[in-house]
Amino acid sequence: LISQALRNQLVIPAWQEFTSKMKYIFESCTDIRTGHVATYIPQLAREDPDRWGMSICTIDGQRYSLGDCKIPFCLQSISKAFNYAIVASDIGADDLHSFVGHEPSGRLYNEICLDSSGKPHNPLINAGAIIVTSLLKKGLPLADRYDFVRQEYVKLAAGGYVGFNNAVFLSERDSADRNYALSYYMKENKCFPDGILSLREELDFYFQLCSLETTCESAAVMAATLANGGVCPLTNERCIDSRPCRDVLSLMYSCGMYDYSGQFAFHVGLPAKSGVSGGMVVVVPNLMGICLWSPALDKMGNSCRGVEFCQKLIETFNFHNY
Ligand code: DON
Repeated sequence: LISQALRNQLVIPAWQEFTSKMKYIFESCTDIRTGHVATYIPQLAREDPDRWGMSICTIDGQRYSLGDCKIPFCLQSISKAFNYAIVASDIGADDLHSFVGHEPSGRLYNEICLDSSGKPHNPLINAGAIIVTSLLKKGLPLADRYDFVRQEYVKLAAGGYVGFNNAVFLSERDSADRNYALSYYMKENKCFPDGILSLREELDFYFQLCSLETTCESAAVMAATLANGGVCPLTNERCIDSRPCRDVLSLMYSCGMYDYSGQFAFHVGLPAKSGVSGGMVVVVPNLMGICLWSPALDKMGNSCRGVEFCQKLIETFNFHNY
């Protein structure tokens, strides 16, 4: 890194200038006081809506963070993107997509519906994510499956913080009627692969992965790994195969921001995934990963400050895909 820097060969050579613009954007979003924290999981309802953190990590390992970047938050639906990439690396995209489609559903993320071929629409809505989770090291005991996926997350984050929030897990499991209904509906429609555990156990696993915690600092490294074709920029370790890495970015681009995905793709033009905890990972392919966290959500369920930050980012830099 140092020799690249001395030769002025880093992906972002004018680092000072770049970070001061990022700081300006970050601070200009601090005034946003709209939105509400998610309330359907009691534990999430207790989050402070005013938290605001941002971290970036480039594919050369340059890092910059602001605000609440060291405070843990639950990944929630952000885990859906990484779980997909991990499973697709493990069993291959073709096998995985024999159970889950690629299309935006155009419906709410937790709606009970399947596509015309009887599969969940995509891996980033609840139905598809529950199927993807059931494929994650299918056949192994739950404890081994959990250990495996947590280790993969730690690798993606170059050893950064990946914890587990048991209170959120218990709280989510206690308020999960919709996810149970959705899963029984999928069972009735033969959406699950053969050889899975009971729905109760498979859903526990899904809730556990939603309850994994990280910080902006660590999640920015995870996002940078996706920006870098699946190779962690800090360790040079391959975490995700290149094809699943491309695939997850395509899905994040078209389906990562709930019912705002089309508008986000139009205005911001970057692959991203948000979660109800107010976290958001954004990938600028071949350049950097960004993690934003602010728990107050807009009507679509995306972080108000996070979305505004991305819009300002695109007004400032030419990161839009097109
Ligand atoms: O399944 C749920 O309700 C949540 N734990 C998923 C959270 C989330 O961020 C919504 N996403 N699509």
